[in-house]
Amino acid sequence: MQANETFTLANGLPIPRLALGTWLMTPSVAESAVENALQIGYRHIDTAQAYENEQAVGLAVRNSNIPRENLFLTSKIAAEIKSYSQALSSIDESLQRSGLEYFDLMLIHCPQPWAEYPDSPNRYCKENQQVWKALENAFHAGKVKAIGVSNFLETDIENLLSVCEIPPMVNQIRVNVTHTPKALIHYCQQKQILVEAYSPIAHGDALHFPLLVQMAEKYGVSVAQLCINYVCQLGLIALPKTTHPDFMRKNLQLDFTIEEEDMQILENFHSS
Ligand SMILES: NC(=O)c1ccc[n+]([C@@H]2O[C@H](COP(=O)([O-])OP(=O)(O)OC[C@H]3O[C@@H](n4cnc5c(N)ncnc54)[C@H](OP(=O)(O)O)[C@@H]3O)[C@@H](O)[C@H]2O)c1
Repeated sequence: MQANETFTLANGLPIPRLALGTWLMTPSVAESAVENALQIGYRHIDTAQAYENEQAVGLAVRNSNIPRENLFLTSKIAAEIKSYSQALSSIDESLQRSGLEYFDLMLIHCPQPWAEYPDSPNRYCKENQQVWKALENAFHAGKVKAIGVSNFLETDIENLLSVCEIPPMVNQIRVNVTHTPKALIHYCQQKQILVEAYSPIAHGDALHFPLLVQMAEKYGVSVAQLCINYVCQLGLIALPKTTHPDFMRKNLQLDFTIEEEDMQILENFHSS
């Protein structure tokens, strides 16, 4: 895959198929990781209000001298923000912190505050509709070029679809060889909601499973490359996180095809 290969969102906006994830990067680590990633050829960076590194990501982007229109930057409204006015101000604060004029994509980070995710019966239906309204407002104001959700189940999406003016364009969910939520992926694809796969290497846990090590050897790639290509071949956007330039380069080298038989094995793979 080329770093700048794209999918197209429902509103026509191109989105690079591979992004650098920045969860758990401190600001200084994020700044240098994003700087390296942009030099290496990444054009899509995934951050969030909750990662507390939007400022560093924005700094690295502005220092790169890459024309803004050639980059795709995603952030997320914190999971605990569940009102229209707070959501709207938080978008302005994200822009201010990062020094950017707009984000390419802004997501609701989670349908429930993290303290209640995923087991609480409260799906925050009314509240998510309000946050969504704030995203639609920001979209119309040109503060964000596309809007979407993350960690949303079918029921959470249906709740938005019942009232929204603009349907969600993206659902960013956990997809990797240890967890392939086929029904949710299929549902989103039917609704023209592009699925982004977060934690594509299972947060690093996938690296040592013997079956994956063996399969990676067969293709002459690393386990990380196998895992990333797995979600790409499912038709999803991949968001691998690394702080190492060598890994960043390797994670873009996906010029191999996982055979259908092996895709089936990976889809049904369980770590235990
Ligand atoms: N929306 C959400 O709720 C949500 C939740 C989780 C994640 N995300 C997004 O998804 C991104 C990725 O998920 P993640 O951070 O959980 O982890 P991940 O990408 O699944 O795995 C990251 C781990 O894999 C290692 N790694 C990466 N490339 C490698 C390579 N080529 N060889 C060997 N090791 C390699 C990294 O090591 P080093 O760091 O040491 O290089 C790190 O330990 C996040 O950063 C975030 O942007 C979103």
